[in-house]
Amino acid sequence: MARMGLLGFVALTFFILASVPRQALASSHGFYARKIFPVEPSSFKGLCSSAVTIHGYECQELEVTTKDGYILSLQRIPEGRRKVSGRETKKQPVIIQHGVMVDGMTWLMNSPEQNLPLILADNGFDVWIVNSRGTRYSRRHTSLDPSINAYWNWSFDEMVTYDLPAVFDYVSKQTGQKIDYVGHSLGTLVALASFSEGKLVNQLKSAALLSPVAYLSHMKTALGVVAARSLLGEFFTISGMAEFDPKGLPATEFVKFLCLNPEVDCTNLLTAITGDNCCLNSSVFDQFITNEPQPTATKNMMHLAQIVRSGVLAKFNYGGKSPQIYNLSNIPHDLPLFISYGGEDALADVIDVRNMLADLKFHDEDKLSVQYIKEYAHVDYIMGVNAKDLVYNGITSFFKHHH
Ligand SMILES: *[C@@H]1O[C@H](CO)[C@@H](O)[C@H](O)[C@H]1NC(C)=O
Ligand SMILES: *[C@@H]1O[C@H](CO)[C@@H](O)[C@H](O)[C@H]1NC(C)=O
Ligand SMILES: *[C@@H]1O[C@H](CO)[C@@H](O)[C@H](O)[C@H]1NC(C)=O
Repeated sequence: MARMGLLGFVALTFFILASVPRQALASSHGFYARKIFPVEPSSFKGLCSSAVTIHGYECQELEVTTKDGYILSLQRIPEGRRKVSGRETKKQPVIIQHGVMVDGMTWLMNSPEQNLPLILADNGFDVWIVNSRGTRYSRRHTSLDPSINAYWNWSFDEMVTYDLPAVFDYVSKQTGQKIDYVGHSLGTLVALASFSEGKLVNQLKSAALLSPVAYLSHMKTALGVVAARSLLGEFFTISGMAEFDPKGLPATEFVKFLCLNPEVDCTNLLTAITGDNCCLNSSVFDQFITNEPQPTATKNMMHLAQIVRSGVLAKFNYGGKSPQIYNLSNIPHDLPLFISYGGEDALADVIDVRNMLADLKFHDEDKLSVQYIKEYAHVDYIMGVNAKDLVYNGITSFFKHHH
């Protein structure tokens, strides 16, 4: 531990692990209570009150039930800080979908002037933040409890089949309007997979995809590569279809086990996993520690590992015949897409992104906007202090241009 810098330690704490101070920290924040109660009863505030209304914005806590029974929490920020009085203008709804092992809170950690949901609200958008199944505010189900394995029998296929359609239907019904979408990381994968099957496209106006992942075979992060190898190997045959809780066992044991591997440099786990983020505010790490990472299904991690290994974006492989692929060439060519990727991103590797863009080579030229930011890595897209100038302003003007 002594060899690690503070940042390394913080990042390590962020992503893991079962060191003693870590456990003390975890229990003082009620992480273990979460295992028993659907929400942390003593500390439950919800995203609205902990990160939105404190800045003077209106915010509504809502929930959506998927066809397979998962109850997802959703926050709506219907307007900006300066309310437009008088003339009722129909606001443009935008759904914001986070990536894997985090939740909606990751968008809200920077100051209101720097974070995407509040910037969109101030630009006249009606903002809807999704929290994926299994994360702390989306752990309820009509009949299953997260303490049993059956609750965790899903991967991103189910997010494509059930979660996004449920959220889009709900927002469509509430607003009567076509929707803009912003996804980061796994939030881009589930969108691309959906669009490739013709899902959501009738309810959608435009989509912005940040750190897009569809292919993962060039992923540089050694930890990720070793993790993917292990997830397909024997380590997980024991835990099978259970919860993958980065703060609990066996995930912490898993990371410790990976860090024993000489290929993996765990002195700075955040960098080891996501790349060399240029532009994070070190003070937001405090919020990271208390808020992230979030659980997902082991099956979801195994599915991602299959994508790493196979080099194709396909449905979950149960070991029988080759599963059906999500063919990105089938995405409607006139769907407005804004795509931004970073040169330092260890998860959305430049080669993988360019392979994905090759699938879009017949896309209507005036409907596709591609941005490359040389110094950006994975987390800069959600928490970079300059993301507003480099990325978010471009998203709002793209959405306004394609309305
Ligand atoms: C998990 O879900 C799959 C596909 O929906 C189903 O075929 C399988 O029987 C389920 N497994 C368990 C253990 O519930
Ligand atoms: C970093 O975060 C702190 C606390 O939120 C804030 O006061 C400071 O202005 C931020 N720095 C930058 C460069 O945005
Ligand atoms: C994907 O679809 C395109 C166009 O429909 C087709 O040419 C291509 O062969 C398909 N790719 C795969 C791997 O099936």
